[in-house]
Amino acid sequence: MVTFKLPLSMLLLSLLLNIFLCSAEVLFLPVTKDSSTLQYITEVGQRTPLIPIKLTVHLGGRSLWVDCDKGYNSSTYKPAQCNSTQCSFAKSHACGDCIFRSQLQPGCNNNTCYIWGENPLINTYIDRAEIAEDVLAIGSTPGALVTWPRFMFTCLIDPDLMRNLANGVTGIAGFGHESPISIPNQLALDHRFTRKFAMCLSSSTTSRGVIFIGSGPYYVYNPKKVDISKDLVYTKLITNNRGFLLSEEYYIQVSSIRIAGKDVPLNKTLLSINKKNGVAGTRISTAIPFTILHTSIYDAVITAFIKALPKNVPLVEPHTKQFGACFSSKNIRSTNIGPDVPAIDFVLHKPSAYWRIYGANSVVQVSKDVMCLAFVGQDQTWEPTIVIGGHQLEENLLLFDLPREKIGFSSSLKLQRTSCSEYDNTILG
Ligand SMILES: *[C@@H]1O[C@H](CO)[C@@H](O)[C@H](O)[C@H]1NC(C)=O
Ligand SMILES: *[C@@H]1O[C@H](CO)[C@@H](O)[C@H](O)[C@H]1NC(C)=O
Ligand SMILES: *[C@@H]1O[C@H](CO)[C@@H](O)[C@H](O)[C@H]1NC(C)=O
Ligand SMILES: *[C@@H]1O[C@H](CO)[C@@H](O)[C@H](O)[C@H]1NC(C)=O
Repeated sequence: MVTFKLPLSMLLLSLLLNIFLCSAEVLFLPVTKDSSTLQYITEVGQRTPLIPIKLTVHLGGRSLWVDCDKGYNSSTYKPAQCNSTQCSFAKSHACGDCIFRSQLQPGCNNNTCYIWGENPLINTYIDRAEIAEDVLAIGSTPGALVTWPRFMFTCLIDPDLMRNLANGVTGIAGFGHESPISIPNQLALDHRFTRKFAMCLSSSTTSRGVIFIGSGPYYVYNPKKVDISKDLVYTKLITNNRGFLLSEEYYIQVSSIRIAGKDVPLNKTLLSINKKNGVAGTRISTAIPFTILHTSIYDAVITAFIKALPKNVPLVEPHTKQFGACFSSKNIRSTNIGPDVPAIDFVLHKPSAYWRIYGANSVVQVSKDVMCLAFVGQDQTWEPTIVIGGHQLEENLLLFDLPREKIGFSSSLKLQRTSCSEYDNTILG
């Protein structure tokens, strides 16, 4: 038999260390809604010397990537050499030399490896995103502020990939669930965090929302402190295995849509991912401002919604091409959960698990007396049937529990008389 005898002081020390190592923390990543593009933007510090950089949040993004085409100055930039542990850790698919520039530079080095880079705003992918490491400062005090001396990210030099990024934004913050170097997966290498994060987007362009990283609790004020990670409706996170380009994206099973309690007649085949080609199904995206519905689903939803509106609410000609159903808002009451219109339920894997969408998230005021249903109809033949976008996600908490492969929905925080911008920024998590 082997016994270990530790001096008491050492035992105490190791206990103390354990307390520190196991203490779960929450990192707050503030998110601003850009008023002209409606993109959700976060800010981190990067490089040496450290500079602030703005990134558009992309839930289904493989990595944190930055624009290296317009220059990247840092004394601590280190590209990942072919066949290094970094390359295999990041699941690199290729390796090579700089052939697009006459001089080597960050984003274009010799003997370096690549992964795919993507711009969800233009649905464009590139196979040469140089893997590299540099200093990253992420999170805001007084929550956890983490400085990583060697955070892995990708450096892109193709100007085509920078299109449509909001003014001042120089890259993408990827929150993909599979990629080892996505933000949540890489931060979870720090034992203070777990592979759990929650997104709370603000509907306002003047007050910030937040992404909480770590296992929670996630507090907001109303003005009492409430943990909004309680009482969520959970559904399974579905991975779209068809084609590696989609594997980072977050899909869920929407089984039906109910409006004012009634089932909308839909072609159910379209609601599941087609196992042969990966199209259809329901994806959650931070890269589009309004939920997109396949035209056949859209038409059915509009019809059911209009039918459920009170008789004293006349339809009006849509002012904008974007929305197909608009109506007079003169006789619509406003409530704490937005305009009093029929509730829309996205029914998840079973009838009792549904995500209810109230007026604040289902309609937009487009002019003084006109409101429109804030969903977009689009030919989605080769795309997901439903892409849940920003307007529907705002002032809701979505919890992404990656180890358990499930996503939790809070519904509107306005029901609890609070909002995503009232998040706790006074105490340690
Ligand atoms: C990088 O540094 C050079 C020389 O100091 C400067 O001219 C250039 O503007 C810098 N580029 C960026 C993107 O900061
Ligand atoms: C290095 O990696 C490349 C591709 O990633 C592979 O083709 C090559 O065989 C590897 N070389 C060594 C020495 O392992
Ligand atoms: C980088 O690789 C290219 C193409 O293989 C080669 O022509 C060039 O000399 C290399 N540059 C350096 C600095 O090694
Ligand atoms: C439902 O959609 C599928 C996939 O697009 C299509 O093949 C099928 O014909 C549709 N069914 C009906 C009843 O419209």
